[in-house]
Amino acid sequence: MRVCNVVAARPNFMKMAPVVLELRRRDVDQFLVHTGQHYDANMSDVFFEELGMPRPDVHLGVGSGTHAAQTAAVLAAFETTCLERKPDVVVVAGDVNSTLAAALAAAKLRIPVAHVEAGLRSFDREMPEETNRVLTDHLSDLLFVTEGEAIENLRREGITGADRVHHVGNCMVDSLVRHVEAAVLRSPWERFRLEPWGYALLTLHRPSNVDDDLSLRGLMKAINRASERLPVVFPVHPRTRDRLGRAGIPMAPGVRLTEPLPYLAFLGMMARARCVLTDSGGIQEETTALGVPCLTLRENTERPITVSQGTNRLVGPDPAKIEQAVDDVLSGRWPTGVRPELWDGHSARRIVDVLTSWRAA
Ligand code: UD1
Repeated sequence: MRVCNVVAARPNFMKMAPVVLELRRRDVDQFLVHTGQHYDANMSDVFFEELGMPRPDVHLGVGSGTHAAQTAAVLAAFETTCLERKPDVVVVAGDVNSTLAAALAAAKLRIPVAHVEAGLRSFDREMPEETNRVLTDHLSDLLFVTEGEAIENLRREGITGADRVHHVGNCMVDSLVRHVEAAVLRSPWERFRLEPWGYALLTLHRPSNVDDDLSLRGLMKAINRASERLPVVFPVHPRTRDRLGRAGIPMAPGVRLTEPLPYLAFLGMMARARCVLTDSGGIQEETTALGVPCLTLRENTERPITVSQGTNRLVGPDPAKIEQAVDDVLSGRWPTGVRPELWDGHSARRIVDVLTSWRAA
């Protein structure tokens, strides 16, 4: 069996690294394709180094663009790769534009597709990721889900079968379990002259939050206020940096802006944060795995288990609600949560078990 693993953007790397490493441990023939959707050193290269991933065998170098342009560029380039290298299965992860494009190119060539992190639904088509999730799942032959509700979502869309849908847990948590101790030992908070548990960590990059001046202003006003009570470390995504600069939004001294952090620094910061404020999907899961309060600055989540079992709460973008939630954190009124079933650091092993026995069958 020859496996083609596809990575593209920051949130893919920590999900795919455990799969690539487990395939290598079992001597399975594989190659790694990087579409180049994320290309800055601190959005891509540093993750390969820290996660111990081999350099990509193929780099498509598609870069940024409109949704259609970016998706189309991956579609055309990845088709060529598949024709040249003839994989038996293509493994894609998550919900970024490259995930859908690679799945579509493979499916049209009748190469089986395996989707890591299948079945998640926000039911909000305003998010481009929702379209990517739905379409990728319908193109996939093997669907690896992180939580039970995803199986139900897929069933409602007619995707069923114990040989097709597999509850394997969360590969991102595999990476977390493997690296969290070393990440904390590095004391990344010292660089900001902060103490463990003495700060909040903020990330913001959803178009719905940052592309509109008014919503970005409202959010930053609430963050500025929160920073008077708890310093806020804010690693800024390139999209957000651009928008903040253009909108000329003032920042309180308690908000420490920094460039996007490498994996280990960010993981260490998360593990010792008093709370995390975010509009990311993956960070909702990582904070649940760590037991750290997560204030999600969105109205919905495709990862409901982080709310029902974990430490996540949907706070939304309303400044008053953000302030109230920070208050709840500081006064200890926050659920402690439990780690969901199979978020145990062994998900990649289950995925490779399925891949190898499916191929043998
Ligand atoms: C993408 C994913 C999103 C994921 C996020 C994590 C889609 C639709 N979105 O959003 O699901 O949560 O990655 O970061 O696939 N840029 C750089 N350097 C880079 C990459 C991007 O400067 O290395 C800038 C460019 O101006 C680019 C913009 O960021 O146009 C947006 O990048 P893009 O990959 O289109 O989407 P993200 O917002 O990163």
